Amino acid sequence: MAFWKPKNLVGLDIGSHSIKIVELKHLKGGYELKNFGVAQLPPEAIVDGVIMDSAVVVESIRSLASNLKLTLKNVATSVAGHSLIIKKIQLPLMTETELEEQIQWEAEQYIPFEIEDVNIDFQILGPLSEEEGQMEVLLVAVKKDIINDYTAVISEAGLAAQVVDVDAFALENAFEVGYPEQLDKTVVLIDVGAGIMNINVLKGGVSTFTRDITIGGSNFTEEIQKELGVSYEEAEILKLGGSSDRASPAEVLGVLRLTTENLVLEIQRSLDFFSATSAEEEIHGIFLSGGTCRVPGLAMAIEERVGIPVEIFNPFRGIACSDKLFDPDYLEAAGPVAAVSVGLALRRTDER
Ligand SMILES: Nc1ncnc2c1ncn2[C@@H]1O[C@H](COP(=O)(O)OP(=O)(O)OP(=O)(O)O)[C@@H](O)[C@H]1O
Ligand SMILES: [Mg+2]
Repeated sequence: MAFWKPKNLVGLDIGSHSIKIVELKHLKGGYELKNFGVAQLPPEAIVDGVIMDSAVVVESIRSLASNLKLTLKNVATSVAGHSLIIKKIQLPLMTETELEEQIQWEAEQYIPFEIEDVNIDFQILGPLSEEEGQMEVLLVAVKKDIINDYTAVISEAGLAAQVVDVDAFALENAFEVGYPEQLDKTVVLIDVGAGIMNINVLKGGVSTFTRDITIGGSNFTEEIQKELGVSYEEAEILKLGGSSDRASPAEVLGVLRLTTENLVLEIQRSLDFFSATSAEEEIHGIFLSGGTCRVPGLAMAIEERVGIPVEIFNPFRGIACSDKLFDPDYLEAAGPVAAVSVGLALRRTDER
């Protein structure tokens, strides 16, 4: 008889544009989708990954959870952006327990925040082949006040945050389940949300380079607003292909092209930096997620500029989804937006 059972967690992705909830059934040989929903937030509720209007966020989580008839209270959530530092560092070989004791001290020099203001986590990646006696460690530091803000809105909404993950790692987990045949290759996951673009190079299924850049869907909306002289709300409608007598679809596409160009340039810069700082690695593919991956022409523009095939990331690929409970067209359309929340729903509390 087992004395304890791993607890399932609800994946709760609090994005700056929308909140996503995913619940999975953990089966013996895989996963089944149990629950999925998205609720939009007003543009000023979360800015640059910081919760500005917690009452609005609390209410959105509460009503989405109630619409989905969630029964589980325990959630896994994630943070991204400026309050987060992910760095690969080199340290002398030591055991996990030894590093646990030293990490605060070791981390200090790599983190631009006061060490007592951050929560630190790490993962030993393995010994360095080129330097004897040294190993590579992935260092993760998140500002405590951000974690507190996120866990506070979650508990005010009647739920409990058991795990606070990082967007990039949640995407990695979702990718592992959906694309097992890609795990021996070097691929790039790119999630473009409303405020943040996350770039994550995976080598053999492990993150080897990650970067958060403050650019996303809001930049497209703001550019339309500015160039075509419409309100933010109108600009958002135009961006999604809606019509208005203030601007023609061709004009909108013209403006989208400007921001697409900037975004593609940022991707290219990051990938150039990755190539320059790592032993030459051929990148086999780019998997694009986040709502902004639907901007017309974006995937193609990335593919043309960096010369690597781009595919839209479908996080439901490795998960059984009943046609009776979920409209397949809806899941297909919402897939890219759900990527982080699917990754979070894969977490259980028996993990470290
Ligand atoms: N069909 C579409 N075409 C263009 N943009 C879209 C489309 N659908 C959604 N978006 C944009 O995607 C963005 C929302 O994506 P997503 O839900 O991934 O962001 P988020 O997770 O809330 O934000 P972040 O991760 O940056 O905090 C918004 O800017 C929205 O306008
Ligand atoms: Mg997001």
